[in-house]
Amino acid sequence: MSNYQKTNDFNEIVYGRKSIKNYDPSVKINREEMAEILAEATRAPSSINIQPWRFIVIDSEEGKETLVPLAKFNKDKVVSSSAVIAVFADMNNFDYAEEIYSKSVELGYMPKEVKDYQLNAFKPIFATMSKEVIRESIVLDAGLVSMQLMLVARAHGYDTNPIGGYEKDQIAEAYGLDKDRYVPVMLISIGKAASEGFQTYRLPVETVTTWK
Ligand SMILES: Cc1cc2nc3c(=O)[nH]c(=O)nc-3n(C[C@H](O)[C@H](O)[C@H](O)COP(=O)(O)O)c2cc1C
Repeated sequence: MSNYQKTNDFNEIVYGRKSIKNYDPSVKINREEMAEILAEATRAPSSINIQPWRFIVIDSEEGKETLVPLAKFNKDKVVSSSAVIAVFADMNNFDYAEEIYSKSVELGYMPKEVKDYQLNAFKPIFATMSKEVIRESIVLDAGLVSMQLMLVARAHGYDTNPIGGYEKDQIAEAYGLDKDRYVPVMLISIGKAASEGFQTYRLPVETVTTWK
């Protein structure tokens, strides 16, 4: 259970989301609620529903101590937030294909013939995909889950900051993960804002869109 006002107001969630640099250090999101937030975030779509995102929730003193030197320019967020979620994309994502598709059949979401057909079609494709192509796909999916996580956090009454400024080449190994398997995507600080976010300008739709 959250101590904070949850909201289902879409405008409040979307327009109220701003990157937050300082958090109330006394606010801790308990692991039960954090797991709920992650479960809701992982409703995000992914290529062939492979769900290649992986998370490390850094919510302990020791965990944060490891992170501070790897995120020097974002130290305040690391230290004051309730947690920092390190988002990775798993190069071995296809290892879970059997589980995902079998469960879908078991739960009645997908006929067995569709599972068999799709897995048989995907297997050779995945086996021959270059690392670069796999990486591009999984990082895209992990970006989607990251966005959803930030919006879900708002719905739970918390604030976030996506962080790209950290030692991406060191993060996996710092937490005992194989760096060739786990591709760093971003860090997301999460907690209760202690100061307001800045107003930020958005390019007009005409600038970023063409109509055909
Ligand atoms: C991939 C990514 C990396 C980012 N890295 C940082 C960062 O290292 N430090 C930081 O303070 N903000 C970082 N930001 C936050 C952006 O500066 C911010 O999202 C942008 O200015 C728009 O502001 P808003 O999030 O308040 O709408 C990052 C955002 C994204 C999407």
